[in-house]
This record gives sequence, structure tokens and C-alpha cells, in this order.
Amino acid sequence: MSLKVTVIGTGYLGATHAAAMAELGFEVLGLDVDSAKIEMLSAGRVPMYEPGLEELLSRHVAGVPGSTGRLRFTTSWEEVADFGDVHFVCVNTPQKHGEYACDMSFVDGAFESLAPHLKRPALVVGKSTVPVGSAARLAARLAELAPAGAGVELAWNPEFLREGFAVEDTLHPDRIVVGVASEGAEKLLREVYATPIEEGSPFVVADYATAELVKNAANSFLSTKISFINAMAEVCEAAGGDVVKLAEAIGHDERIGSKFLRAGIGFGGGCLPKDIRAFMARAGELGADQALTFLREVDSINMRRRTHMVELARTAVGGSFLGQRVAVLGAAFKPDSDDVRDSPALNVAGQIHLQGGQVTVYDPRGMDNARRLFPTLGYAPSALEAVRGAHVVLHLTEWREFRRLDPVELGEVAAAKVVLDGRNALDPQLWRAAGWTFRAMGRPNA
Ligand code: UDX
Repeated sequence: MSLKVTVIGTGYLGATHAAAMAELGFEVLGLDVDSAKIEMLSAGRVPMYEPGLEELLSRHVAGVPGSTGRLRFTTSWEEVADFGDVHFVCVNTPQKHGEYACDMSFVDGAFESLAPHLKRPALVVGKSTVPVGSAARLAARLAELAPAGAGVELAWNPEFLREGFAVEDTLHPDRIVVGVASEGAEKLLREVYATPIEEGSPFVVADYATAELVKNAANSFLSTKISFINAMAEVCEAAGGDVVKLAEAIGHDERIGSKFLRAGIGFGGGCLPKDIRAFMARAGELGADQALTFLREVDSINMRRRTHMVELARTAVGGSFLGQRVAVLGAAFKPDSDDVRDSPALNVAGQIHLQGGQVTVYDPRGMDNARRLFPTLGYAPSALEAVRGAHVVLHLTEWREFRRLDPVELGEVAAAKVVLDGRNALDPQLWRAAGWTFRAMGRPNA
């Protein structure tokens, strides 16, 4: 008999995981405490922009014409507990307000709500990014609360999906990492992931702590790589070097690799910034804070990129933003996403607004979320309209749409032809040929 899978929490991670599990052939029940979200998902619609996700979801959601009907959603914990052989916990772990540590209340809440209903044997699988030690603590909690007692087990299975590539990353993961306490749990997870394993995804079996740490380590490494190249950008700017050329050259060394070496205004989003902070906080609790002091530097290099972009823009408009119109191209923290959580682009826009600049933002997908978070900024319906009357144009999220812009057309509506590329993604020659003063981060002026 085929396994029945539940997915608790239907945000980016959960919604994608639920759809992917249905695609792999399982009967899936997704749960969220937000009934509006459940209604939307049940109609085959996705509450965020993620390429390919809505198509994948509607291929399986029960009630959508032509679907397999393998995927359903509910708000009932009891229903989920009765239904599932395997329960994936995919709720988020945001940064605590005013602290580095992560807020475990959604994870803890999910376990407290689910466990008392677990009357039959099941495997609960945590996917959320958590401080090391959480899985051991939650396993003990399950043992206390679940009526099925020893029949209920815990595993930790960190998720490495990237927004914008969530479907691809979930169906064809680089690797599957599981932290388990028994062979039975490992066997069950091998069954769940049989298809990607067959297709070649490495399956790494570890203990709870190692599995939790793999995720912390991966995100720390990626953040460090970005901050490293951004530190080189600072030096390039001081010395008159070109960081794009430098990144290309060092990237040819296979030990270094060319990915994640794009200098610019740095990393943001709902994962990397808060994950490295939570990791530092947890290491501090464990008495290992010295081991991670470099992450403090990684974080400050990253935050410095945002202020540096603000300074470049201020200089470009003559030293003060007062009376100056600033066009901001990009609001999402990265292209192919509408996610504006800790978005470097919006942070820069907000700083300029606070310093008296008249900011107009345009983003292909992130406008609604940006408006909600920064209601006092100006918004335009297109890049052209954002640029109209602008004294400086900032390119802050590297959407393909922005690379295709016609600098000649934009030059006709801008008040001054000055563009700053915060992502090193525009073609300097194209813009300069159209008469623009073009500046990019970590690249020579001329
Ligand atoms: C990240 C991890 O990649 C993923 O494995 C983890 O599960 C969640 O966190 P995500 O936040 O979706 O994924 O985006 P990612 O593509 O990693 O980009 C993160 C940030 O770094 C973005 O703001 C991006 O613009 C920035 N970035 C990325 C750079 O500034 N330079 C680069 O070279 C690469």
C-alpha cells in the first residue's frame, strides 16, 4: 500500500513539498492554520509567485478538473494525524524580533498541536531550519505527547530549495539529508524519496544534530562566498580593479567554482540572513561562539553593501537626496520571486526615502508585497514609468526584464542619465553607448 503523506505548513517550502510529494505518486494532505491559504490552495492556486508551482499543484489538487486528485488541504490537526504515515513539518522559523536567535514558536506549536492526535504509528519529519539540538528536544516531546507512544518517531530532513527554483530543487534535489534515530526511519524515508534516489540524488544518513548542522553549514558557506566576493568588490573599488573579471578568473579554479560569486548589494531573503544569525546565537548558547565570529563579519560586509549603494546614489545626485527623484528597479530579494523579506533592494529604497529622496519602485512580481511592507514608497506600473523624471536609476534586482530594457528609450524620459547597477547584471557598453553615466559595484568607472 502506498504511503500517505501530510505536509504541515504550506508556505514556500510546504506548498512546494506537498505538490512534489503528490507528483511522486503519494496521497497527500496539506495543513495550514491560515484558512484563507487553504481555500486558495484547494482551488489549485498558489499564494506566492514561484515558477511552475501552480501548474504542478493544480495537476494534483482534488477537485481541479483533470487533476490526479492526490492532493488535498485541511485546517484540521485530527484529520492530518489520522491520515498520515509520514508527517512533514514545514513551518517557518523567522528571526526573533530584536534578537539573533530564531523564533521556534511555529515549529513548537506544530508539534504541540499534532502530537496529541497521533494515535497510530507515524514518522514525523522536520524540514524547517532549526537550531541544532531542536530535533532531540522535539523527539522527547513527541514521546511525551503522542498516544501511540514508541510507534511515533522523529526524523530531521533539512530542505535546500532555492526560491525561483523550488519545484526543480524539490523534485531533483542536489542531495537528500536525513537525521534519524533508527533504521526503520531511514527505510521509510528511502521509500518516500525512492524516485529522486533512483534518479541519482545522493542520500546522506546522519544523526539529528549533524542533519540540523548540515543546513546551517550550507547556508553559512553560501553567505560567506557572497560576502567574500563583496569584500573583494570593496578592495577593487579602492584599487581600481574589476570584481566581475576577478570573479570570473578565480571561478575557473574548480576548488572555488564560479557560482555564488556575483558581487553587488548582497544577499537577502527569508533564509540566509536570519539563518547565519540564528546559527551564531545557537553556537553562543553551546559555548562555541568563537568558531563562528567570522559570520558576524560576513553579516556586516553584507549589510555594508546596502549602505554603500545608498552612498553611491547620494553622490550621483550631488550629495543630497532632497528634491531628487530616484528610480529603483527591483523590489524582490532575487529575480523570479515575489518575496521581499529582507530584500536588499527595498532596504536601499527605504534608506533613500528616509534621507529625503523621492523613490519610485518597480518590480515585475514583487509590487504587492513591497507595497504592504513599505507603503510610503512610490510605485510605478513599469520600469519606464519608474524612470520617468528620475535623477538616478538604481538596478537592484536582476530580473531578465531589466536586462532587456532599452537605454535609449529610458534616456528620453529620465531627468538625468545616470544608472547604478547594484547587481552587476546590466551591460555597461549598451548603457554608455546610449549616453548614460554607468556605475557598477566593484568595477572601474571609465
Ligand atoms: C537560499 C539557499 O540557496 C537555499 O539552499 C536555502 O534552502 C534557502 O536559502 P534563497 O534564499 O532562495 O536560497 O536564494 P539564493 O539563490 O541562495 O540567494 C540568496 C541571496 O543571495 C539573494 O538575495 C541573491 O540575490 C544573493 N546572491 C546570490 C548574491 O548576492 N550573489 C550571488 O552570487 C548569489
